[in-house]
Parts: sequence; structure tokens; C-alpha cells
Amino acid sequence: MAKKFFCKRRQIYNEDDTDGKRIVIIQTGGIKTKQKPEIEKTHDSGLKEYSKSGDKQNFKLEVPSLTYLEKYILKYIIGQDAQVRKIITSIYKSIKFKTLKSNILIIGNSGTGKTETIKQIAQRLHIPYTIEDATKYTQEGYYGDDVIDIIFNLLENCNYDLKRAENGIIVIDEIDKKVGHNASGVEVLKSLLKIIEGTKIKVPLNPLNPLDNRLYDFDTKKIIFIFLGAFSGLENIRKRRLNINQLGFLANEGENGKKQDTRYIKRDLIEYGMPEEFVGRIDTIIEMNELSQESLTLILKRSKLSILKKYQSELSEMGIELSFDDKLYECIAKESLSLDTGARELSNTVNYIFENIIYDIMANPKKYHQCTLDLDIVHDNTRYEMS
Ligand SMILES: Nc1ncnc2c1ncn2[C@@H]1O[C@H](COP(=O)(O)OP(=O)(O)OP(=O)(O)O)[C@@H](O)[C@H]1O
Ligand SMILES: [Mg+2]
Repeated sequence: MAKKFFCKRRQIYNEDDTDGKRIVIIQTGGIKTKQKPEIEKTHDSGLKEYSKSGDKQNFKLEVPSLTYLEKYILKYIIGQDAQVRKIITSIYKSIKFKTLKSNILIIGNSGTGKTETIKQIAQRLHIPYTIEDATKYTQEGYYGDDVIDIIFNLLENCNYDLKRAENGIIVIDEIDKKVGHNASGVEVLKSLLKIIEGTKIKVPLNPLNPLDNRLYDFDTKKIIFIFLGAFSGLENIRKRRLNINQLGFLANEGENGKKQDTRYIKRDLIEYGMPEEFVGRIDTIIEMNELSQESLTLILKRSKLSILKKYQSELSEMGIELSFDDKLYECIAKESLSLDTGARELSNTVNYIFENIIYDIMANPKKYHQCTLDLDIVHDNTRYEMS
């Protein structure tokens, strides 16, 4: 396992030998770095950021209180309060207790906040993370990437800080695409088992210097694994289990008179096609809520991720005040609800609204100071006034 990993990376170095520039980029891990470089700063929120140039030996992970982080994340993620709490608790469990580890499965439709929630939490906690698309991976790396590459990506995302990466988060997205009655997918899940369980992988100790051949035993046992997926059709398995009759009546009593679990249970996942050994490694199952029209409205109005707020502040930077009736929030939410892509659709609707406005501003810089949106702009993006 270790040898293969190392050779594979070597191969990449060699391939790029022809291009001097590129080799430098790869070695510094610049290509895939998704996280911002660290700076030393204490936020008003009380969170500490770390110094990139700081002494790694003295590196100390300062974790904000759980309730603090929860409140903080809820400023971004709307309509998933209980889910956010569960995810944070599970991650904290792994951070705070030496012997406990978390592997979380998050089930939810597109645009409900699965990826965003994890991203926000990992960023606030300054935990290195990588988000991997399960569909990219193959069991042997024949035509896709090897699962060991996941570790490499994690390392790249924290500039090869081996200790921090060992306490990092690996997110595997679209895990449901590897489940079912497709043998190769199941093999990928099985090849993931080893790193989930905790194994040692030999990685270069000093990748910035290709002449340094020393290796480091990278331990995966503390890494938090988070699996994301929509699992379409899983709902039917649960419904069947719960004995919902045609009238939609919930027979809450099981055959033996015991109360049935309305949450997803591991048996549902096994029936869906997830290998038993894999299901066995998952300790927390979280089901995201569908986002209602009210939630979408709140996202636009309150969330720090609101795309409408982003436009508003960009325009304001240019000296243009944006004004509209408060009902517009609801109109956008309603329009966005018509598709099944949750909050993702908000971006499309809002981008459509601003198409002509952005053109006008670009074509006539400094001309406008006021932009007023009509409620009908949701359907007809010429319905605005600029002065
Ligand atoms: N609950 C939420 N609160 C606030 N914003 C949200 C929420 N859910 C989604 N969004 C917005 O929608 C975007 C897409 O969400 P996200 O990437 O988390 O979707 P997802 O659940 O991972 O869906 P997919 O299965 O399509 O990947 C986010 O970047 C964010 O701006
Ligand atoms: Mg996602």
C-alpha cells in the first residue's frame, strides 16, 4: 500500500519534469489547496487562527466551545438546526475524547446544505479537510483515482502539516453512487474501510524536497470521515419498514408491539446496498431537512451565505444603493422552490435578476447611485430602475 502511494506520487513528479514551473506548483501543494493560507489573528468571535510561519512544534489546537460554534454555524446554515447540532457534537466527540472517533453519514437532497455545513465547520475549527467525490475513485485506481490519493489531497490542503492532517476531516461526497448492486462501487467502499478503520500509510516526510527520501507513517485512525449522499429511493425502504399504508397512515407499532424507529437505521442502508462492514463503521446518521419556502426566504434574508446580500454589498461598494420591497425575498424563494435543487436554485434565480443590472453598471461605470427592483423582476429581469 505504502510503496504504491509513494511511487504514484513520484510518477507525477516525473511526468512534470518537462515543465519546470509545474513541478514547483505540485511540490508546494498549490494546485489543490482549497483552504486559505493561515494568518495569526484573533477574531472578534474569539476564534484563533494560526500562523503559517509559526513553530509547528508549538502548534496548539484551540477549539471554541461547542455552543459557540453551533451559534456561529447557524448564522450561515438555515433550517437544519438539529442537524447542525448533531454534526458538531459528533465532530467534537472525536476532537475531545482521545479514544472516540466519528464517522458520520449525512443523507439529504441536493442543495440542503450537506457540503456547506461541513465546509463551514471545518473552516471555523481550522481543521484540515478535503472533499472528495466518490465517483472519481476506483478500487485499484485503474481508470480513476486511488483511494490513497484522498490522503494526499488532505495533506496538500494543509501544506503537508502531517500532525494536523492526522486529525483532519475527509468528506466523501456522493457515496450513494458507490452503493447498490454495482460490484466495483462496493469494492471502492471496501477499500475505504482500511483508512476508515485506521491504518498507517507511508508518505514523504518532506515532500517539498524531492531529494529527501525519508518516509513518515501517516496514521489515519483519528481522521473524521463524513459521507454525503442523496440516497434517492432510501425513503421507500424506510416507508416499507414503517408499514405506511396507502392512506399514508403511519403504523407506529411494529409487529412485536415495539415502537418503530422513524429515523433511518442501518438496516435501511444495508437493504439499499451498502456493504455491512461499511455500515458498521458509521456511528452517526444524519438526515437533512428539505428546505421549505420559509427556509429559502430566511436564507436570502439572514444567512451570511445569502447571494442576494452578496449582490447588495458589491453594488454598495460601487456606490449603488439597492432597494426592493421585503416581499421580494419570498418571491425569489417561491420561484426557486419550483426546482428540486434546494438552496442551489436561489443562486440561479438571483443571478437571473441581476443579469441586465450588472450589464448596465459595467457599461456605464459611476453613472448610477440607486437601483430599485420590481417584484416582477423574478420573471422578467428588465423590471428594475436605475438612477
Ligand atoms: N441550509 C442552508 N442554509 C443556507 N444556505 C444553504 C443551505 N443549504 C444550501 N445552501 C446554499 O446552497 C449552496 C449549495 O449547498 P450545498 O453545497 O451544501 O448542497 P448539498 O446539500 O451538498 O447538495 P448536493 O447534493 O447537490 O451537493 C451552498 O453553497 C449555500 O450557499
Ligand atoms: Mg454537496
